[in-house]
Amino acid sequence: MRTTTGWQADGPAAALRRTPLKRRDLRPDDLAIRIDYCGVCHSDLHALRDHDSAAGPLVPGHEFTGVVTETGPAVAGFAAGDRVAVGNIVDSCGECPMCRAGQENFCHAFPTLTYGGTDRRDGSTTLGGFSREYVVRDRFAYPLPPGLDPAAAAPLLCAGVTVWEPLHALGVGPGSRVAVAGLGGLGHLAVKMAVALGATTSVISRSPGKADDARRLGAHAFVLSTDPIHLARARDGFDVVIDTISTPHDLGPYLRLVALDGTLSHLGHLGPVTVETMDLLVGRKKLSSAGSGGRPATAAMLDFCAANGITAEIELLPSARVHEALDRLRRNDVRYRFVLDMSDLDGAAPPEPHA
Ligand SMILES: NC(=O)c1ccc[n+]([C@@H]2O[C@H](COP(=O)([O-])OP(=O)(O)OC[C@H]3O[C@@H](n4cnc5c(N)ncnc54)[C@H](OP(=O)(O)O)[C@@H]3O)[C@@H](O)[C@H]2O)c1
Ligand SMILES: [Zn+2]
Ligand SMILES: [Zn+2]
Repeated sequence: MRTTTGWQADGPAAALRRTPLKRRDLRPDDLAIRIDYCGVCHSDLHALRDHDSAAGPLVPGHEFTGVVTETGPAVAGFAAGDRVAVGNIVDSCGECPMCRAGQENFCHAFPTLTYGGTDRRDGSTTLGGFSREYVVRDRFAYPLPPGLDPAAAAPLLCAGVTVWEPLHALGVGPGSRVAVAGLGGLGHLAVKMAVALGATTSVISRSPGKADDARRLGAHAFVLSTDPIHLARARDGFDVVIDTISTPHDLGPYLRLVALDGTLSHLGHLGPVTVETMDLLVGRKKLSSAGSGGRPATAAMLDFCAANGITAEIELLPSARVHEALDRLRRNDVRYRFVLDMSDLDGAAPPEPHA
């Protein structure tokens, strides 16, 4: 085994602590990656909240960029020194119809998640990217296109691809009317991508203070979700509504904004939802969801972002400030993604503040 350093939670709501972590020795098709930057996703907050300590320690982080430091003997596509990116899937069965269709994110045998997943070969629990090194199967690492800033590109690997797949699958392009509900990590990337795809793009937000940002990101209109007049005016107005809201909520008001035969893509808070069928019936509306991305879509998304100069708007913090990032994300106090700089994990840990 190899040893690295990372931020680990030992129980529900427990603070993350800096600790040595084990990484597997390289298999023939593995890469070792020095993680430079890891985004902080709202799913990390959900995972920390729901963490069952009986399942072992939790190391969050599933959107990161770094540099290859070592390759296994069967690795052909990467060499030491390459810039790479990894998202929230690190393996899949490779044989089921979904995998064969390039939708590893929907693998019938369930994809191996970057953290809290079960390694397919040794049964160990995966530990995520809030750490200095990751060992990953080469199929699930992506070359980071030149021109993309590695810190600002890290969030593309979860937030980015999660909104890219539905935008792409729903055929968003010139002439489409798209609305993005919730202007956070996923939402702001959805706005940038929808604008770059040529769609007339609106933001639906409960935060009036984000209206100027929405326009700066390229949105053409801002709908204040707490204002019934705004909602009434936007009724039936969008071919696609991308819902990235991170808390359980009534889908009715958002379905009513979907145009005839349009789609509400519900990506944010997962779990049971209640739908009033009349909200689907009136206007023959469709309700959909998506999550993460398959390998082809992830590579295509990175190329699209490189071609269009799209990265996340980030606040970069040393990894030692991970708690501040999580607290502020919880309070919706981020514009629009925290990214942790992992270089402070090199060398000895600084003394505890109150030791
Ligand atoms: N499907 C997937 O595979 C996948 C992948 C990644 C993340 N997710 C999930 O997607 C959600 C968004 O993630 P994120 O990282 O983008 O989170 P985020 O940065 O915290 O953004 C979420 C946004 O939702 C809105 N919001 C939050 N609480 C709300 C409330 N009570 N009522 C209405 N709007 C509210 C806020 O936007 P406004 O201030 O503009 O209203 C906030 O900025 C999370 O639940 C995350 O777990 C799913
Ligand atoms: Zn995520
Ligand atoms: Zn599969």
